[in-house]
Amino acid sequence: MKSFVNQHILNERQFNRKNLETLFERARELAPLNKPGFGAFLLQGQVISLLFYEPSTRTRFSFEAAAKILGAWTLTSENTGIFSSAAKGETLEDTIKVVNGYSDLIILRHPQPGSAKRAVNVSGIPIINAGDGTRSHPTQALLDLFTIEKEFGKIDGVSIAFVGDLAHYRAARSLCAILTNYKNIKIYFVAPKNFKMKDDIKRLLKKSDVKYFETEILSDVLKKVDIVYMTRTAKEYFENEDDYLKVRGMYIFKRIHLGQMRNHGIVMHPLPRVGEIDIQVDKSKKAAYFRQAKNGVAVRMALLSLIIGKT
Ligand code: CP
Repeated sequence: MKSFVNQHILNERQFNRKNLETLFERARELAPLNKPGFGAFLLQGQVISLLFYEPSTRTRFSFEAAAKILGAWTLTSENTGIFSSAAKGETLEDTIKVVNGYSDLIILRHPQPGSAKRAVNVSGIPIINAGDGTRSHPTQALLDLFTIEKEFGKIDGVSIAFVGDLAHYRAARSLCAILTNYKNIKIYFVAPKNFKMKDDIKRLLKKSDVKYFETEILSDVLKKVDIVYMTRTAKEYFENEDDYLKVRGMYIFKRIHLGQMRNHGIVMHPLPRVGEIDIQVDKSKKAAYFRQAKNGVAVRMALLSLIIGKT
């Protein structure tokens, strides 16, 4: 992607080092939200629609906050499958074509992998993929990277452990893929036998010369990494309850683990958590997950302003 202007954001593989730096520079400029009116003209007069067919707190609220801070109007539909005419059987394609007539940009979250591409195929205005099933969550990857840079002052050379059911977890997939833009990254996958990171991501890492290692044991990796990236067991993507129950609770990051990490290490999680990180961990400065969630506003302001903002 050469320029952000009027681009769809379909997946994290569109990004390269240069446009990531452009995005993060803009995010750093826009981050001081305490300046009244700062940047409020950038999206003035623009209408941004948020169609969320799946539940969300962070992605929807931070996109909406970002849009409003920069002066846009938002049309927002939570639980779109039930509270829009999708409930009457309207196709995603028809909904996107209709909402094109009301907006300048659409932010879409949908449970089906490939839904963002379907939307792009019929849309004359930019679509931002805010999560399409188990496949991809590109804007989460952007805010995760921004968080890593903010915490460590660099991204090159970091080592990161992804922990949990990695077969179903789009945020881990997206962050792995986007990390291939950086040098000397080391990745550790900590996952149960039948829920390992999928081969498409491993192939991409190999092709990009990113070293990765696999284990089932969390304590194996704590001393080796800068970042422990915990993940939720995503119940909504399991076909049977037994499989879900087998995986849930396998990895719980507790206060005792903090002492086993490197001194400068941090714990990240895209959230929501449902027990994977004990709340006792929250008091530690190593707990970066609420800082990470907050960074979503600056990164999403930067993204919206670069795609449809005034220059
Ligand atoms: N991290 C994330 O996507 O959270 P939400 O599901 O609350 O948007």
